[in-house]
This record gives sequence, C-alpha cells and structure tokens, in this order.
Amino acid sequence: PIVKEMFGLSDLEEAVRQAFGLKRVIIVPGDSDTSDHIKREMGRAGSRVLRESLSSGDVVAVMGGSTMARMASQFAAPVQLRDNWFVPARGGLGESVDYQANTIAAELAKRTGARYRMLHVPDHLSEEAYQTLMQEPNVREVVDMIRSARIVVHGIGDALTMARRRKLNDGTKNELLKDGALAEAFGYYFDRNGKVVHRMATAGLRLEDIEAAGIVIGIAGGRSKGEAIASVMRFGHDDVLVTDEAGAEEALKHI
Ligand code: F6P
Repeated sequence: PIVKEMFGLSDLEEAVRQAFGLKRVIIVPGDSDTSDHIKREMGRAGSRVLRESLSSGDVVAVMGGSTMARMASQFAAPVQLRDNWFVPARGGLGESVDYQANTIAAELAKRTGARYRMLHVPDHLSEEAYQTLMQEPNVREVVDMIRSARIVVHGIGDALTMARRRKLNDGTKNELLKDGALAEAFGYYFDRNGKVVHRMATAGLRLEDIEAAGIVIGIAGGRSKGEAIASVMRFGHDDVLVTDEAGAEEALKHI
C-alpha cells in the first residue's frame, strides 16, 4: 500500500473502479507492453485476487493467453484446495499449447492440489460435428461443469491482434473491422460500446453463464490494450479488473 500511495495508483484504481462500475480494481505500476516483468507482476496480482476469491467447493473457469499463463505460474494457496475444480472456460481457441485454457486450468490445479478437467474440442468444427461431440458424455460432463462455474478468470485482447493470432481468414477479419470490433475476451468480440459483434464457435462458457457467475475477474494490461479493456468493461459483467498503470490510463481515455 505504501508503494501504491507513492505512485498515486490507489487514486487511479478508484477512478477506474468508478468509471466502469467495478467492485475492485488492482493496478500494478508500469506498462506490460514494454516489460515482461510488469506482466509477471500483473499475473501475480491476479493470482492473489483469485486465491482471495476462492471458497470451498468452487468451480473456476479460466481462459488462456500469455497474461493468464503468468497468473497461473504464480498461483499458490496456503492449504491444499482439494475440493476446488479448475476447468477451461472454452474449448480450443487457436492458442499455442502453453497459452491454452486447458494447460492453464491444469497448472492452477496442480500447483494447489485441486482437481481439473480438460475440454478437448478442436477449432473449426462443423455445426454437425459440434452437435455430435456435445452428445459425448465426457464432453457433456465437462461443459456442464464449465457452465456452473462460480468464478471466471479471463484475459482481454485487442480484436485484430487476436484475429491474427488465431489465423482467422481475411473475410472474417474484414467483417470484424466492419462491425467495429475492438476487443476480444472469452472467444467473443466486442465493439466500443461493449456489444458482442462476433463469436467463435466453440464449446464452453456462454454469455448467460458469464452473467450468472458469482465473480468475474479480468486480467489485462499494456497501453495497447487500453481501448480493448474499456470495451470489455463496458460489456459490464466483470467484478474485478487487474491491470497495469498504462492500460488503466489508456482505458480511462475511452470512457
Ligand atoms: O485466447 C485466450 C485469451 O484469453 C483471449 O480471450 C484474450 O483476448 C487473449 O487470450 C489475451 O491474451 P494475452 O494475455 O496473451 O494478451
């Protein structure tokens, strides 16, 4: 807290909290665009929030990405979390293995003695194949568990950066641009008003599950993500935002 006062970060936290109607905002000093150390610090702050939010019996659904990976690698609990479950929020979203939600759910569980389930649903499934897969008892069971999660933890990305990272075709990319997509989170693309303009067809968490979750925690920073952060906060279902100074400053320019 003393360091935060020196940087004036608690004022910034309060400004962001009020601007987006959040319950809690945690800001680490710096800009994770230019420093991996800052990204790690943000991950560490996120892991602390998650630990503080956990109650016995909770199911936690997590998204993927490099920020979430740094959160997971620093997650710790004072006691073994034997009756908690970690599950991926969505099936494959075209991330490399280290950044997949499955990997992150497994790491969080392994670090704390909790349990986890994986969801093996590939990208680019036809509607028919998807429906068949959803009838598989194993898949169904995990999907039901994901949809019952009390806690959701997710990253936020810039829409075009994520479209490129997922190798979406030019047609889809142009459509996203035309629809004003600025941000991506949970496999959904959002415009500046926080309205969903596009979604990736993959199993897992639906919008109504995010709305029904008890605690939604977003972890994202860096000046380049400021506008995307503002757009997802406008969507309005996050309770807690963990970000960095540059991301927070930039987000406030887009309220
Ligand atoms: O693909 C998973 C995901 O959480 C996206 O929803 C989000 O946009 C992105 O990763 C964030 O990734 P990073 O933390 O690497 O910027």
